[in-house]
Amino acid sequence: MEEISTLPEMKEKVGEARRKGHIIGLVPTMGCLHAGHMSLVDRARKECGLTVVSIFINPSQFGPNEDLASYPVRLDEDRARLRSSGVDVLFLPTRETIYPHGYRTYVEVEEITRHLCGKSRPGFFRGVATVVLKLFNIVKPDRAYFGEKDWQQLAVVESLVRDLNLDVTLVRLPIVRDPDGVAVSSRNLYLSPAERVSAAALSGALQSARKKILEGERSGEKIRQHMRELIQKQNGAEIDYISLCDPETFQDREELRGRTLIALAVKVGQARLIDNCLVDAS
Ligand code: PAJ
Repeated sequence: MEEISTLPEMKEKVGEARRKGHIIGLVPTMGCLHAGHMSLVDRARKECGLTVVSIFINPSQFGPNEDLASYPVRLDEDRARLRSSGVDVLFLPTRETIYPHGYRTYVEVEEITRHLCGKSRPGFFRGVATVVLKLFNIVKPDRAYFGEKDWQQLAVVESLVRDLNLDVTLVRLPIVRDPDGVAVSSRNLYLSPAERVSAAALSGALQSARKKILEGERSGEKIRQHMRELIQKQNGAEIDYISLCDPETFQDREELRGRTLIALAVKVGQARLIDNCLVDAS
């Protein structure tokens, strides 16, 4: 595996791959890699002649009171995982490479970013859209891989690609979960054993809501209340949002119908956890 941190080296590498006719795949990450990231990597490896994984903890997507300074870093473990899974290039740019002195251009995806995580983390999706566009421009991938764990982020990146005519195919992969149901996340490292039990109640609440909907419940408020009760019972759980909404526009649905996204964000101790599931309420 080659490790690249500068733009000219990256340009050289992807230029060479393209001349050879290889499909270039990009998996953007913030590192501290886990099974969720590796599912994207494995898929990219199968479909692409050159697989690039980027690790960059993007400061522009963190709010002033968020965990940028304490975001977990495990570079040695990440390198070992990527090497053993056959990744071709680890792209590890510095902050100055991505945001050099005088940097002043940001991308804003409108409307869908007003809901859910966009509402509780102002500026978050602006930072995500900006860095993803920059990574696309630097790596020029044919295919880019994202997880449904961050469902709204995927919708934002899909809008970015469509609205700005970017020549990249997005590949979306399902949420990878631990055996206790918890969606795998770098932020799970913040959880104490007791908090881990509370975290497991989040996917439990999603499953319970899904079951009620499949059994015929169509009141969004009743489902939300049911989930609230299940989660509030947990020690140290503080609900940010629970939403039953349209999976494309993220508008809340009071009367459930058709494809419905159940999404939540809950702070458990220091960790802000998100999870979601899709249910067909037709
Ligand atoms: P990060 O949280 O490191 O996630 C990188 C990718 O891994 C995202 O596409 C995310 O959806 C996916 N992922 C994380 N946990 C997953 C799980 N349990 N199952 C499946 N996929 C999972 O998301 C980001 O980084 C950043 O916002 C980024 C897109 C890199 C821009 O900075």
